[in-house]
Amino acid sequence: MADEPETPGATIEDYLLEDRTFPPPPAFKAVALVVDTTMYDAANEDFEGFWARQAADLITWQRPWDTVLDWQLPFAKWFVGGRLNASENCLDRHVEAGLGERVAFHWEGEPGDTRTLTYADLLAEVQRFANVLKGLGVEKGDRVAIYMPMIPELPVALLACARVGAAHSVVFGGFSADSLSDRINDAECKVVVTADGGWRRGQPGLLKPTVDVALASTPSVEHVVVVDRIASSGGEAEVAMTDGRDHWYHELMAEAATECAPEPMDSEDLLYLLYTSGTTGKPKGIMHTTGGYLTQVAFTHKYVFDLHPETDVYWCTADVGWVTGHSYIVYGPLANGATSVMYEGTPDTPGRDRFWDLVERYQVSILYTAPTAIRTFMKWGAAEPEKHDLSSLRVLGSVGEPINPEAWIWYHEHIGASRCPIVDTWWQTETGAIMISPLPGATTTKPGSATFPLPGIAAELVDNDAEVVPRGGGYLTLTRPWPAMLRGIYGDPERYRDTYWSRFEGRYFAGDGAKIDSDGYLWVLGRVDDVMNISGHRISTTEVESALVDNPKVAEAAVVGAKDDVTGQAIVAFVTLRGGVEPGAGVGEELRDHVANKIGKISRPKTIVFTDDLPKTRSGKIMRRLLRDVAEGRELGDTTTLADPAVVEEIRKRAMSAPSDD
Ligand code: WT7
Repeated sequence: MADEPETPGATIEDYLLEDRTFPPPPAFKAVALVVDTTMYDAANEDFEGFWARQAADLITWQRPWDTVLDWQLPFAKWFVGGRLNASENCLDRHVEAGLGERVAFHWEGEPGDTRTLTYADLLAEVQRFANVLKGLGVEKGDRVAIYMPMIPELPVALLACARVGAAHSVVFGGFSADSLSDRINDAECKVVVTADGGWRRGQPGLLKPTVDVALASTPSVEHVVVVDRIASSGGEAEVAMTDGRDHWYHELMAEAATECAPEPMDSEDLLYLLYTSGTTGKPKGIMHTTGGYLTQVAFTHKYVFDLHPETDVYWCTADVGWVTGHSYIVYGPLANGATSVMYEGTPDTPGRDRFWDLVERYQVSILYTAPTAIRTFMKWGAAEPEKHDLSSLRVLGSVGEPINPEAWIWYHEHIGASRCPIVDTWWQTETGAIMISPLPGATTTKPGSATFPLPGIAAELVDNDAEVVPRGGGYLTLTRPWPAMLRGIYGDPERYRDTYWSRFEGRYFAGDGAKIDSDGYLWVLGRVDDVMNISGHRISTTEVESALVDNPKVAEAAVVGAKDDVTGQAIVAFVTLRGGVEPGAGVGEELRDHVANKIGKISRPKTIVFTDDLPKTRSGKIMRRLLRDVAEGRELGDTTTLADPAVVEEIRKRAMSAPSDD
């Protein structure tokens, strides 16, 4: 057995329950089981043919492709020569098929206000907004930044961009002004779509003031469109509108023409950019194109969730600010003509049963959420879901980080009533769509294992020498191109090659450590690079370190993700202050706020440990692994490579008494 790669947080012992298996529940009666397990063999024999069949079955093409795959490692082109439009696939074709009155979104605001959008409604609003964008000078090939709360205008904005052939770049509403302007500048966005704010825990969380700060340093932006979410729902939102630059959404919409033909797009035209943290301080603009992406998100959404669009009500609780929302709130479900629930706020407002209340009232049958949410619900207790009738649920999904068996079993028993299959879906911003997952009703699951690569996908573990590891621990790699794969990093083809394709020749390296057990089940253990996973969100240690040293009080900083019972990992920062600055709770609070202001609230360190020195190797590299051990209160490993071993002992003592941000 090969050595397991060093993974933060979880160890294989935490996860491995090889003996605990869950066969497809006998009571699981798919309306008509869409899952066909013979797909695996067919797909393995001819993966290009397999994907071509999916593309033909699930997607409507304006012009058929000439070549299924053009693979010049590491650059792939799928369905070369094909033409299509993503918004036409998500909207027009359903309306033309007579499904205009089917609900696309049951939307609910946090205060309890609701909106029902049928496919016909959504098509009408998207066409108008596409005309608004055109009126503001947006053309095919341009980039549009989107910084919005979870309101219907958000999917409308994405689809309107797709309709006119502009790439969207969604920036999660929790990101700071600096993060927003960096992303806008990297892609040279022409227009920003935003809102006055959104509701969070009963309060208006304002967005427009952050946009105003960001736009002080974004020369490419010509126009801003602002949805009056707070103002139109009884809240107070002071919004400064810059003459000639800023426009109210409802005013532009009132004047916009009602029809806008979908722009014919090449299969390989850019559909969107989505920035994600890497191991350096600079986020990567992940590029997704049109034909292959749409094919794989539609395929996975249909088969992984056993979707029956005529009868299912599907709810993905993610925010469209992350890839999960792009693929499994917008493009996948809409391409399949599904009915979705979309919710603006947090699960604890007004009460801790808000999610279960939503499930009951909308009769949700497929629920897709994150381990961190499940662990929070566990902490709140089973009495909350028990207040509601959850018998509409049929399939449960998990995404974003490894799910610990305890949380899996709780989800299975208390939410799924031991009746619903759980699909633990492994994928990444870069993969665009689900890659490794059980198929409900077909795969015998094990709590904590993502089980097997889906049909058409090939994954292997390798050791440090790139030797394949058939059983045991190794690095997770993908050995074949897949339709929804990233096409590159915007403006940086070399970084694309270096990050994903150079560590193991001919293989895509996912950055995760994993294990294959004696039954061949795959267990994803976590990142093996300097990337943390906080509540399923990817945060780079280097980015947080840069934000810390940007504060004049800080001389040096080292950041690690330490195991956390709810969020998976939590950010712990070891900080050396400049001479003359005294450590203390006040400085700690100031530094935490500083990071939140620089990057965003999700990057706010939970704990700050002040130290006179940091443990370094002789070559000056900070030993994060050691700091992680300290932060997790583990036994210290071999410290002989330290410049000053005494530092570690000192740090360990201080970590024991450091205040944290609970
Ligand atoms: C990283 C990707 C996929 C959308 C949300 C996160 C971790 C994701 C699982 C899972 C174990 C998982 C990996 C991966 N991850 N899903 N089911 N089991 N780990 O997207 O921000 O691009 O992060 O999330 O570490 O590399 P992302």
